Amino acid sequence: MCGIFGCILKDQNAAPVIHTALKRLEYRGYDSVGEATVHDGKLYIKKDQGKIDEVHLTRNLDDLPGNLGIGHTRWATHGAPLEVNAHPHSDCSGQIAVAHNGIVENFAELKAELENRGHVFRSKTDTEVIVHLIEDVLKNNPALSLTEAVLESARKLDGSYSIAVISAKEPDKIVCARKESPLVIGIGENAIYCASDIPAFLPLTNKAVIVDDGELVAISLKGWEIRKISDGAPVTREIKVIDWAPEMAVKQGYPHFMLKEIHEQPTCLRNTLRLQEHYLDLMSTFLDRAREVFLIACGTSYHACLGASYMFSKLAFLATYPVIASEFIEQHGKSVSVDSAILAVSQSGETADTLASVNAARQRAATILGLTNVIGSTLTRVSRVYIGQQSGPEIGVAATKTFTSQLSVLAELALRLAKKRGKVSQDEMDYLADKLKRLPDIVETIIRTQEAKIRELAKKYKDAKTFFFLGRGISTATAYEGRLKLMEIAYVPAIAFPAGESKHGPISLVEQGFPVIFICPKDETHKTLIGNIMEMKARGASIITIVEEDDEEVKRLSDDYVEIPKGVPDVLSPIPFVIPLQLFAYYMAVERGHNPDMPRNLAKSVTVK
Ligand code: F6R
Repeated sequence: MCGIFGCILKDQNAAPVIHTALKRLEYRGYDSVGEATVHDGKLYIKKDQGKIDEVHLTRNLDDLPGNLGIGHTRWATHGAPLEVNAHPHSDCSGQIAVAHNGIVENFAELKAELENRGHVFRSKTDTEVIVHLIEDVLKNNPALSLTEAVLESARKLDGSYSIAVISAKEPDKIVCARKESPLVIGIGENAIYCASDIPAFLPLTNKAVIVDDGELVAISLKGWEIRKISDGAPVTREIKVIDWAPEMAVKQGYPHFMLKEIHEQPTCLRNTLRLQEHYLDLMSTFLDRAREVFLIACGTSYHACLGASYMFSKLAFLATYPVIASEFIEQHGKSVSVDSAILAVSQSGETADTLASVNAARQRAATILGLTNVIGSTLTRVSRVYIGQQSGPEIGVAATKTFTSQLSVLAELALRLAKKRGKVSQDEMDYLADKLKRLPDIVETIIRTQEAKIRELAKKYKDAKTFFFLGRGISTATAYEGRLKLMEIAYVPAIAFPAGESKHGPISLVEQGFPVIFICPKDETHKTLIGNIMEMKARGASIITIVEEDDEEVKRLSDDYVEIPKGVPDVLSPIPFVIPLQLFAYYMAVERGHNPDMPRNLAKSVTVK
């Protein structure tokens, strides 16, 4: 959670640059915003609760003086989203300021010690201990530099952090450090930046230095210096040139990032299909060797894993366990061994629950494989092999294009594994590979031909109090994902489950007009699913179906339907069938007056457990 940004500019005021960069980071949290700059030996801070635009309106975030500063956009963990808890936080002397993303787990002990030594705390945050710690280190040893003081302080912190620290006494540098929270450095012409992620500075520079876990970096206009936090040893790191075009990170004329990202899916899927074969091969070798395979993820990425478990079983005859990451250690921690393979799926590569599971499995010598959208993320560094899904930055908080890309990579992986295990004939392989290649066009057709209709459906159902999302087989994963999208952005409570479960309880909720959305590919589950539609219809439910275009039988049973081009193989069906559900959730949010890009209480990257 939270986004941090810092910059040092040669001939320019830092505040407006920080302000616009924080806007690009707002998807990481928007409970409060703040900036701190240094000018003429003084520290200036402006901060308040609320979204960036609201705060800027009343406080003007652009008029702080100085060419060096840091900023923060917050997703509250410790302390309510109030002005007093907004970052940056400063020390007792008002000379040092820190912006922080993460959680300091031992903050209560540290705070008690620091208070005993006379430090006065103003906020309820865990973050404030960091700045007092630095102040304390410097008080005890005034000869130390800010870099040395941050190094020493960081060693005392348990938990996760990505921090940017400035001091009025050293007005030419920003000292940053990271542990389990993301941090990157941007190298510009006459400028240097630090940020939680690359899109924050991408319009300013495409040259990045990735900071690894357990590292500190001091930046100034003269350059950057990376050191290991544990022993202070210097580290050399190459500059990476990022080939994301800056316009990829803006809305390109769409009213919301989410809609733009839904529309980007054909392109993303084409990019995903350009994956390097070598990595798919390597990963499928590890999957093949393992005694058991766990597919670990959270939220939407978990739904991709659920879909993948059907793909691996149907194509490669491999049983896998999809597990929600926050449950993995309790449920399977003890049974993991050197013979286990963990395929962790995480768009951000920084999700705390997923990384905690990965770390637990690493300790038991399991093989870690990663699928992520963020190269340089923690997941890429802890994986034996990782695949970058190549979806480009996803700004909308709700995952859309990254979900279909994940499914596409996982399908390719399942196919590769099937080949390795000799489980599918060459003809079948060629047939499926060809179908996979055609999916981008199919997704394009769905968006082009069905979007207007889905918008009308959202108008019709906008006041519904709840929905069921039902499917069978691999469409169960699609149903779960459709339901999550609707709940998280349109705030409509909804339930999803395998359609066969209706009669074991949930059907008792159904009464006249109760909306039930069925995902109905013409696969082996089709006949049984029609039985489930009849059960619901008999009890007065409004039946909404996602159907293949030639499925006249289901269309006749439906109050409303959305059509999918025919002939998509069952193992690939979640990719096209989820598109109408994403659009439905989007238009429901808009109809109900909510901003789909910024669902309340959520953040894009969930770096706390
Ligand atoms: C939902 C959504 C979340 C994420 C989840 C995992 O739209 O985006 O449910 O899927 O927080 O995030 P990653 O994939 O970054 O690990």
